[in-house]
Amino acid sequence: MALVVLASASGAPGVTTTALGLALRWPRPVVLVDADPVGGSAVLAGFFRGQVPHNDAMVQLVLAGRAGELAEVLPTVLMPLPDPDAVLLPGPRSHAQAASMNELWPGLVDELRSLDRNGQDVLVDAGRLGMQHSPTSLVLAADLLLLVCHSDLPALAAARQWAERWSTASTDGLGPSAVAVLLVGEGRPYRAQEVAKVLGASVLETMRWDPDGAAMFSRGEPGSRRAGPTFWRDLGAVVAAIDTRVAQARCTNAGVAS
Ligand SMILES: Nc1ncnc2c1ncn2[C@@H]1O[C@H](COP(=O)(O)OP(=O)(O)OP(=O)(O)O)[C@@H](O)[C@H]1O
Ligand SMILES: [Mg+2]
Repeated sequence: MALVVLASASGAPGVTTTALGLALRWPRPVVLVDADPVGGSAVLAGFFRGQVPHNDAMVQLVLAGRAGELAEVLPTVLMPLPDPDAVLLPGPRSHAQAASMNELWPGLVDELRSLDRNGQDVLVDAGRLGMQHSPTSLVLAADLLLLVCHSDLPALAAARQWAERWSTASTDGLGPSAVAVLLVGEGRPYRAQEVAKVLGASVLETMRWDPDGAAMFSRGEPGSRRAGPTFWRDLGAVVAAIDTRVAQARCTNAGVAS
């Protein structure tokens, strides 16, 4: 069981698309948390094509947190995804609304952890790192932080600062348990090995460049809820790699603690 955070350093490398794809590919019950402080609820606007009304989950949770009722209210604001084992916690409607989320994240980490104990994994779309109102508490609590990035030089230049920062933080216990890169579009132009070398961080897995497969998740498509077989296969490989890395991180932490 795991809390896995996906985030980016620059551009729009596919955090939301990949996080949603992973939630639908996930082999166990899972909650997808939209914690992107930019707001706008990309999954509702994109995948659901604006046809599912927003439930203002974040506002309800902030109020519940103030009333000490977070645990009771959280399950009531989770929205169904087209997989019986996957649910969505929709993000703030706007960046202005995201400002009030700062008080929510620390308490929500505890509640998400208890979902984890009940057998539900948690995937978080944290948007771009370093944004005002970023969900830092969630990032710090992650069993695994996946830095999603493209393989071109501007993307790598932006990612390098975060890879350095978090790789140091994770070894001294001040950051996520583990940090790795999820490369979208390997070979455009750099290969995973080259990216790992430049960033000084391991590349967990790669999602190949597949605009059509990705569009299924980022923009939705009437009548179909499944991406093409290639995109689906890549998601399966990422799920397997996440499981392995989280298990390793937990072993290491248990070793350090004992
Ligand atoms: N593996 C992929 N291959 C090709 N295109 C992709 C891939 N993954 C995502 N995309 C496309 O990239 C664009 C941006 O995707 P997405 O919105 O998921 O990025 P993001 O990192 O969440 O961006 P933002 O920072 O704006 O939230 C979309 O058009 C999406 O379809
Ligand atoms: Mg996004």
